[in-house]
Amino acid sequence: MRKIVIAIDGYSACGKSTTAKEVAKILGYRYIDSGAMYRAVTLYFLEHHVAVTNPREVIKALEGIRLSFHINPKGVSEIYLNGLNVEDEIRSMEISQNVSQVSTLREVRTLMVDQQRKLGKEKGIVMDGRDIGTVVFPSAELKLFLTAEIMTRAYRRQQELFAKDELVELDAIVENLQKRDEIDSTRKESPLKKADDAVLLDTSHITIDEQVDEVIRMTISKAFDGRK
Ligand code: DC
Repeated sequence: MRKIVIAIDGYSACGKSTTAKEVAKILGYRYIDSGAMYRAVTLYFLEHHVAVTNPREVIKALEGIRLSFHINPKGVSEIYLNGLNVEDEIRSMEISQNVSQVSTLREVRTLMVDQQRKLGKEKGIVMDGRDIGTVVFPSAELKLFLTAEIMTRAYRRQQELFAKDELVELDAIVENLQKRDEIDSTRKESPLKKADDAVLLDTSHITIDEQVDEVIRMTISKAFDGRK
């Protein structure tokens, strides 16, 4: 079966990364969480008090950032910022509240997209984010656009934070998700939108296992496309 590129985009907390991770594991593909890259940049900007309204300061700060992914002993890909594992830190509410703003910056996006394309040079990759099917890999063989009802998404995100001992009210999560959706979809630089050739998947009433099965089925069909 030939290897393909799978691009998964969609709103925050629709199960993109959970699906992408599992699909990659089953297929033996590499998984790249592009949101983790924007989150790691946000962490660096907050730690170094970078004024995001000052492009020169932003460019200078980006020069000091080195991102890499490493597979942990459980086989899960984790992000490193300048050699330090920041996988847990970047999932906090503080980062979630600032990441969409940082993601609007052209300088940040240009660098991230460039690094994402390099990471995906080989086929056999699953990447999730907001602009993967539209900007990063416009010729990906399989593109998905995930959506779900807001309360389902908020509840799922609350469970994830709870598992990390971070107790956050559902209302605060709903507000954060809606605000991020708004910024992500309306920004000037590569806004979140469904690629014309992406398959729309509403995950409100299906389980992760069903989502994963569906993506595997579509991948197999694409991987055998034109191979007669
Ligand atoms: O997938 P996530 O919630 O971890 O992403 C965090 C933020 O990063 C999201 O609100 C918008 C931004 N992002 C982006 O602009 N482009 C991507 N390809 C991935 C994420």
